[in-house]
Amino acid sequence: MFQVRPYSGAIGGLVEGIDLCRVLDDATFERLQQALLDYEVLFFRDQPLEPVHHAALADRFGQPQLHEAYDHVDGYPQITILENDRERPSKIEMWHTDMTFRLCPPLGSILHGVIIPEKGGDTMFASMSAAYEGLSDRMKSMLSELTAVHDFSHGFKESLAEAGGRERLADMVAANPPVEHPVIRTHPISGKRCLYVNSLFTVRIKGMHERESRALLEFLYQHVTTPEYTCRFDWQPNSVAFWDNRITQHKPVNDYWPAHRKMQRITIDDGERPY
Ligand code: SIN
Repeated sequence: MFQVRPYSGAIGGLVEGIDLCRVLDDATFERLQQALLDYEVLFFRDQPLEPVHHAALADRFGQPQLHEAYDHVDGYPQITILENDRERPSKIEMWHTDMTFRLCPPLGSILHGVIIPEKGGDTMFASMSAAYEGLSDRMKSMLSELTAVHDFSHGFKESLAEAGGRERLADMVAANPPVEHPVIRTHPISGKRCLYVNSLFTVRIKGMHERESRALLEFLYQHVTTPEYTCRFDWQPNSVAFWDNRITQHKPVNDYWPAHRKMQRITIDDGERPY
């Protein structure tokens, strides 16, 4: 059976003694699910996942989501390719939780490192339960009453501004009008409370003046990236990260351009609306 070693004080577990290319038996699957709840993001080394393995692993955890804004692996529309090099600098700069522009944002993502630059290109993760616990009781109580608006068009504003971007993403924009989520959500399985706003997709807090909303969001965006709530994963070829998107944020560190970095990701849905 596999072991998990804590990767930092607040978040992350390095899983050793597991082969993700094999179909997980029920006992291993259940322990892995529990480890994801405990550590919020799991890291694995030396997992030479072919698309068929990646897809089978994700299927065990839920329904894969399609993300029309990205290219995908031939024959596997659920495996998104994130590839950057000299001609294609990364556009993902900000801390975020994936797809909070949807009413039911994903459970999590399984990211496989395919081509890793010689230096740089780490991914940072932050625990939103640790960030919540780090607030005063007074602040927790105020935030628990609040709702925020999340918007696809805000997160993809750079892509939309590119030549032909608005036409290319027209269907996504139409399918994803702004949605509302609680500023503090409860994890549907562990019951942990966590902060649920992110600088990529959250645009404002409902019922506040614009300046108040901006100031509060700015404070929260700073707060969630407090080093004590984070960890930083250094990729090697065939490393894998599996994060619980309901309770974490992440940020790829864009310090490797113009080197080549290629990742493949499956995002998994659980059909849950945050509450
Ligand atoms: C992502 O934001 O889903 C990608 C993270 C990464 O490429 O490190």
